[in-house]
Amino acid sequence: MKTPSDRNSMTFASITPNEGLKIAVEKGRMGVLGELSESGLKGRGGAGFPTSVKWNLAAAAHDTKKYVVCNADEGEPGTFKDRFILAEFADLMFEGMTIGGFTIGAAEGIVYLRGEYTYLRGHLETVLEQRRKAKLLGKNILGKKGFNFDIRIQMGAGAYVCGEETALIESLEGQRGEPRNRPPFPVDTGFMGHPTIVNNVETFAWVASIIVKGGKWFKHIGTEKSTGLKLFSISGDVERPGVYEFPMGITVDQLLREVGGEGAKAVQIGGASGHCVHQKDFSRKIAYEDIPTGGSVIVFGRQRDMLAVAKNFLEFFVEESCGQCTPCRIGNEKLLEGVELLEKGCCSMKYLRELCSLGETMQIASKCGLGQSSPNAFLSIVKHFQDEIMGRTAIE
Ligand SMILES: Cc1cc2nc3c(=O)[nH]c(=O)nc-3n(C[C@H](O)[C@H](O)[C@H](O)COP(=O)(O)O)c2cc1C
Ligand code: SF4
Repeated sequence: MKTPSDRNSMTFASITPNEGLKIAVEKGRMGVLGELSESGLKGRGGAGFPTSVKWNLAAAAHDTKKYVVCNADEGEPGTFKDRFILAEFADLMFEGMTIGGFTIGAAEGIVYLRGEYTYLRGHLETVLEQRRKAKLLGKNILGKKGFNFDIRIQMGAGAYVCGEETALIESLEGQRGEPRNRPPFPVDTGFMGHPTIVNNVETFAWVASIIVKGGKWFKHIGTEKSTGLKLFSISGDVERPGVYEFPMGITVDQLLREVGGEGAKAVQIGGASGHCVHQKDFSRKIAYEDIPTGGSVIVFGRQRDMLAVAKNFLEFFVEESCGQCTPCRIGNEKLLEGVELLEKGCCSMKYLRELCSLGETMQIASKCGLGQSSPNAFLSIVKHFQDEIMGRTAIE
């Protein structure tokens, strides 16, 4: 049985501090990119973009200034694994960012820290200061001439959409945190118009670990398309909630056994913007090719009201939509109104079908990932729990 949130049981605890940075300098840029490519590491922030591809593009970009940005916004409901890394393995994460600076040729790193994590800032600044004193940040790092890199922390102000990488960059630049049109992508035109890699907290920690243990080691864990290990934030109706490390490709069933959640009727994987998985599908894999996730797993026991779950998530999206595009700004409100009709037992099957069609339109027509994914929970709950939610005297 696994113990939640036990730092010593995590792979990160077994990595010798700054070993990865030393190896990176020895191997050179191409060596680092080769290991990352071999590892198959995909971003741990949710979208699952291959890290080596992103870093290759930024390394190849011609500019005198480049940036490394760590996305520590962690606003997805039900996720708290980045907070755990920031508290327990900040040094490893900063090491991964420094390897990023070395690889793409950036001299500045920025941690975009979630406003609610202000209490962690003092700890993070202390770790940064220790790294400067140890010459692991600053000029000519590890005695390598021209390897200059430092990291600063900038606070977010609590908007969920600012976790989206282009909204995050807008916010870093002091603008309203609204997503940009893509392309151009940040690797080409990022912070202040310069090539920028934006990666999740956990991604940077895995980069440092992979450079120490090797791309092959990581590649042989998990599935062919979803390699390696992953941290999961487990909450809800389980005996042992907390942060766990599991291999990618673990089935929902296996995960529930590890955390004491065997009696669940549904599991929300990927947070409010993820999918609600019904008990009949618990043999499915948590992997990019099956059920993708940034690490949030919320378990619902038999007693849970699934319409209340859908309502809770939609209230969140109505609040957090930046309002820039119509499908998301109006669509989430309409879905929430629909849920309120369902609560009162005044939603016809015809109208429910129209709401589902609206949700599908939002998935296609919204400008950014928020609106594209906000109907997911509603749609999967309607699909799997129609009898439960229509059981409130439906009108045809
Ligand atoms: C609405 C929204 C919120 C997001 N929030 C986060 C977040 O809090 N942390 C994060 O790492 N990625 C978040 N992302 C994904 C980022 O846009 C981006 O894909 C990620 O930071 C890239 O890092 P990775 O490749 O290491 O995963 C969010 C995306 C969307 C659409
Ligand atoms: S999808 Fe929503 S959050 Fe994204 S740009 Fe449109 S209104 Fe803003």
